Amino acid sequence: MMNILFQKCFPESTAAPLLCSAPGRVNLIGEHTDYNNGFVLPMAIEFRTKLALSLRKDKIVHVYSKNLDKHAEFHLTDNFDPSKQQWYFYIAGVLQLLMKQGYATYGADIVIASDIPMGAGLSSSASLEIAAGFAYLSAHHRPIDPIKLAMICQQAEHHYVGTRCGIMDQLIASLGQEQHALLIDCESLHLKPIPLNMHQVTWLICDTTIRHQLASSAYNIRRQECEQGAAAMQVNSLRQANLAMLTTYKTKLSPNVYQRCHHVITENERTLKAAIAMQNQDWLTLGKLMAASHRSLQHDYHVSCKELDFLVDQALSIPGVYGARMTGGGFGGCTINLIQDAYLNEFKQKITSYYQAQFSYPPKIYQSKPQAGVKLAIPEIAIEHEF
Ligand code: GLA
Repeated sequence: MMNILFQKCFPESTAAPLLCSAPGRVNLIGEHTDYNNGFVLPMAIEFRTKLALSLRKDKIVHVYSKNLDKHAEFHLTDNFDPSKQQWYFYIAGVLQLLMKQGYATYGADIVIASDIPMGAGLSSSASLEIAAGFAYLSAHHRPIDPIKLAMICQQAEHHYVGTRCGIMDQLIASLGQEQHALLIDCESLHLKPIPLNMHQVTWLICDTTIRHQLASSAYNIRRQECEQGAAAMQVNSLRQANLAMLTTYKTKLSPNVYQRCHHVITENERTLKAAIAMQNQDWLTLGKLMAASHRSLQHDYHVSCKELDFLVDQALSIPGVYGARMTGGGFGGCTINLIQDAYLNEFKQKITSYYQAQFSYPPKIYQSKPQAGVKLAIPEIAIEHEF
């Protein structure tokens, strides 16, 4: 499909394009901890960004997005002002940084298509960045350390898009593994694959379908508040802080900063415990940690919204549900639910009808097993979108 689309967009291109795809992700626990050098526990999902790319002889880049049905053209030495917020800046940023750092030389013709719901907190942007960077480097025959690629993509998001995101999304899009979640230490960038032996339990993603415009600016403010907290406690990052220190410094912190720090410190503890519970297939403990994570994001970090809270509250009242929490940056997007297989259909029916009755439109439900990170060639997987 991508081959044909590429030929249609760039009929003059003689060489066959290089095909590549990178996954979206769902974070199982460890939210808003990555940019505080903490722990995260995401898995890559079956939704992917697919990309076809062929190098050119000049420094021009042409991109066509199938989802947006839009073309863009730019020069690799152009200036990209993040305040202009163009859809192709994700790609422009990655390609320009790779060129500036000496990994690449040429322009490219590129076609992209994605089945990752945009703005749903499933990391459609990191997946696009990683797919673009990986294909671009592969076409130049320039191997690169996948962690280095993730860091360059994160820089692109900071400087070309304007979101000061952490490293989680790019790392999991780059290094995700089938049948595993990844416990990532965002300070050392050490990655520990955690086998997901899902006997009789399933991860289910519920999408509020709500997308908040303010998410990016609120995200940057949360990050600033955490940095203020770390500075006040005289540590480099909240990774070095603990609850005893937080109590000692409480009077020196504004109530907001105190709450943000409280979330991050406790979320790091929960994430480490969750990885152990996952390894032991102790779903009861894992579920409780997920619910506690949601409450902390709701009450301390203030990144939830009424639709997410409703989905979590209702999910936790349905039989067979071990745990539920919002996932990703927040302010809309999705929840992640851990459910006994025997109750899966009952859960889908109940959560849909409760949500529909409350908000007059249904949530979307996605189901996915853990997938591999970026790779050449495009798998033809049919993901179960809705039921
Ligand atoms: C977004 C960011 C990530 C991370 C999450 C919250 O997805 O891109 O780096 O901070 O929010 O956990």
